Amino acid sequence: MSEDQSAKGMPIMPNDLPSNDPVLSVLHEAESRYRAAVDDLQEETQAREVELAALRVQIRQARDRERQERERADGLAAALRDVHQVISHGDLYALILQVCLRLTGATRGLYITAGTHGCTRRVRAAVGIEGYPQSPPSSWLDAICQRLAGQDNPLIRNRSGDHDDLPLSTPTSESFQNFLAAPVLLLRDLHGVIVVADKPGEFDGDDAQTLLHVGSQAAVAAENIQLRQKLQNAYLATVSVLADAMEAKDPYTQGHCEMVSRYAGRIGRRLALDARQMTIVRYAALLHDIGKIGVSDGILNKPGPLLPAERDLVRSHVRLGHDLILHVPALAPVADAVLHHHEWYDGTGYPDGLRGAEIPVAARIVCVVDSYGAMISRRSYKEAYGGPYARAELSRCAGTQFDPEIVDNFLAALDEIDTEDFDGDREDDEIELAPLLGFEKEHTEIT
Ligand SMILES: [Fe+2]
Repeated sequence: MSEDQSAKGMPIMPNDLPSNDPVLSVLHEAESRYRAAVDDLQEETQAREVELAALRVQIRQARDRERQERERADGLAAALRDVHQVISHGDLYALILQVCLRLTGATRGLYITAGTHGCTRRVRAAVGIEGYPQSPPSSWLDAICQRLAGQDNPLIRNRSGDHDDLPLSTPTSESFQNFLAAPVLLLRDLHGVIVVADKPGEFDGDDAQTLLHVGSQAAVAAENIQLRQKLQNAYLATVSVLADAMEAKDPYTQGHCEMVSRYAGRIGRRLALDARQMTIVRYAALLHDIGKIGVSDGILNKPGPLLPAERDLVRSHVRLGHDLILHVPALAPVADAVLHHHEWYDGTGYPDGLRGAEIPVAARIVCVVDSYGAMISRRSYKEAYGGPYARAELSRCAGTQFDPEIVDNFLAALDEIDTEDFDGDREDDEIELAPLLGFEKEHTEIT
């Protein structure tokens, strides 16, 4: 008899054998133990199979959770990229409108800014409605905005009897089958109005809550962008005042700093500096001599050689400029470049005798371009030199006064432009301040 047969319950020992045979008794006992062992084994196997099945379920659930987490993380990352894109380069209103259409299932819509605080009411974004956003809001849209001013409740119209007190929507493009209009509130003030329309089916309370929620986020985002713009404008005004003060002090340098800044930017690009370093280079070039507003005109414009004490006063402009710029928080990273723009590559410059890479790269760039600009310009104490002479001087002093790599790049940039002066380089006029404020380049205009 096989082991398989015994496991299926067939007797191992025949039943018609004498029951008092001691050998048979032992064999029966063994058979009983064997069967019990088989039963235990089967029970154990079934238990293990149940555990295994449960483990498989757990593994599958864990994989499902992992996939859902990954999808959620991917979705969040995509949303953050959208927000980042909008803040840096895009259109906040268009994105908000798209989100509202997607979440409510509506097929057409508009985003209108409210026209409070003396601003004109404007359609900022539109989907599926002819003429907008270029055209001013119609009288119907004006009425919607006025109705929503000062209240939190959205307007829902699913059938023609609802809100019949509103003016008729004369343009055919605004003849909606149904619509939902919600206020965008900022600190209880009406910031804008979102209108979504032509939803298959009807708008309901959930749609209204969704629009209110998205609208509140939109208002905060718009406010943040406005604050950023105001902050940047305030800093740019400060820089402008500083630059004007410097030029008013020394008419010989009029326009010089803008030229130095543009050429410094070209060198920075050739050196593949990042956005933050580029901004430091441009502003350091623009403001490198700002400390001269603390040095007397008589010394600055003295035609002859300077006495040692006068030379020390002129040299103090780097420290004065550094201290002045430190008082403008966003420009603080520029201060070191201003302090060291008269250091020499071989360590024999001032104020600290830094050498080589110890000198901030922005200061090394300004040093080269400033020297070139000074050579080709007329000053109170000298006539202008020609471009070829100035180039030769830069090459001669590369490795002693100037960083040779920067001289090479500057001469290459000059060759590219093929001119001895700085005119006609208007493409480089704009200097981004955003990197010093921790912002990406700002393109979004929110008014
Ligand atoms: Fe200087």
